[in-house]
Amino acid sequence: MSSPDSLNKPLWSGRFDSAPDAAMLRFSTSLPFDCRLWRYDIEGSIAHVEMLGQCAILPREETQIIADGLRNLAAQIENGELNFDDASDEDIHSFIERHLTAQIGPVAGKLHTARSRNDQIALDVRLYLKDALRAAQSAVRALQRAFLARAEEHFGAILPGYTHLQRAQPVLLSHHLLAYFWMLQRDFERLEENFARADVLPLGAAALAGTTFPIDRQLVAQKLGFAAVSPNSLDTVADRDHLIESTATLSIIALHLSRLAEEMVLWTSPEWDFARLSDAFSTGSSIMPQKRNPDSMELVRGKAARVFGDLTTLWTLVKSLPLTYNRDLQEDKEPLFDAFDTVISSLQIARGVIETVVFNLEKMKSAAGGGFSTATDVADYLVRKGIPFRQAHEITGAAVRQCETSGRGLEALSLDEWRALDARFDEGVFDAVSVEGSVAARQSEGGTAPVRVREQLERAQALLA
Ligand code: ARG
Repeated sequence: MSSPDSLNKPLWSGRFDSAPDAAMLRFSTSLPFDCRLWRYDIEGSIAHVEMLGQCAILPREETQIIADGLRNLAAQIENGELNFDDASDEDIHSFIERHLTAQIGPVAGKLHTARSRNDQIALDVRLYLKDALRAAQSAVRALQRAFLARAEEHFGAILPGYTHLQRAQPVLLSHHLLAYFWMLQRDFERLEENFARADVLPLGAAALAGTTFPIDRQLVAQKLGFAAVSPNSLDTVADRDHLIESTATLSIIALHLSRLAEEMVLWTSPEWDFARLSDAFSTGSSIMPQKRNPDSMELVRGKAARVFGDLTTLWTLVKSLPLTYNRDLQEDKEPLFDAFDTVISSLQIARGVIETVVFNLEKMKSAAGGGFSTATDVADYLVRKGIPFRQAHEITGAAVRQCETSGRGLEALSLDEWRALDARFDEGVFDAVSVEGSVAARQSEGGTAPVRVREQLERAQALLA
């Protein structure tokens, strides 16, 4: 689909004597990236022109022709008849208007009544953002579901919990997996809050000050499914908070995924051997035949850097910009799109990894007992016998030292050996030093005992139901 050259001039050429420099045109065009907004641009234009008709700002016959023309354009873009490949328009708005004019004639020029590209782009981005936030939410949910399924599957399995990357206390594998479920739950809620603030109609702010035409913004909000209408036209065309806060949420998601990724890289290394990634999410080496690399998780870890970069771009872009619209703001789209694309695909990869990873439960279990991980349980056991915690800590420390010199674990000490350390020890100590006993004893709310983790599982299931 082509159109006469005379139509392919900037929308604002009237007050200029000559065309822009070719390099300037290339430098300033946003079409290569904002073409992605075409559907929203057309949807917004249809709502706008219908409102112009309903408010008797334009004759109904004309608004009908324009709306039909816009629907035709959408169908043509949809089926590939019309594409953006060789277009040299300044932006998506100019592209749509040029083709609309070519197809329905000069009446197309009436579409821009009571509107500016400043409120138009603000609208397009909000429509995009609402869809993108919903898409991110469903990707988060899918990953939560994967964690929940694996937590149910391996209920009862034990592995070491770590602090300082040193074995600390044994925990349930389900408990560890659900830790990610709750991180993602907060992310989901943050996305919901971002959605509420994105869900405000900017159209009608016009260039910056509103319009002289008797438009009905509530009607447009209704047609486009916005919950509210923005209260201040100056703020409306200058505001990019909703992009920034959404990208901040995406950055937190990327941060969470990078922690997961790092753990998977550790767990799948032969040194840990806690897990094996499925073939589908591993890659080989071009030189070392034995290698089985966790590239999927390394890339997820690496892509977090990119998302943080997008956030940095966005708020640096808006910092110190005077009110209201400034062309700098055109630079907001690429980082925004990149952040959503990157985080949604990272969530999808993480989900695939979690769904298919094979856990080495024996290895986890034997590591859980190592490193004197039940020492706190021995101290707690003494406390229950009335010994002050500080003293119990001291006595247990001596037991650890004794085991270290004889190269044994706490579970290997005989009752006589315990008694030699302190006469108050009895058979109960064997329960305290076992990993199962240790885990089962941590019944405080939110703790790792199976009864508590069962509760957690039920809460998590209810959230996803
Ligand atoms: N391409 C512009 C952007 O993305 C659209 C708004 C242009 N407005 C203007 N007055 N030049 O921000």
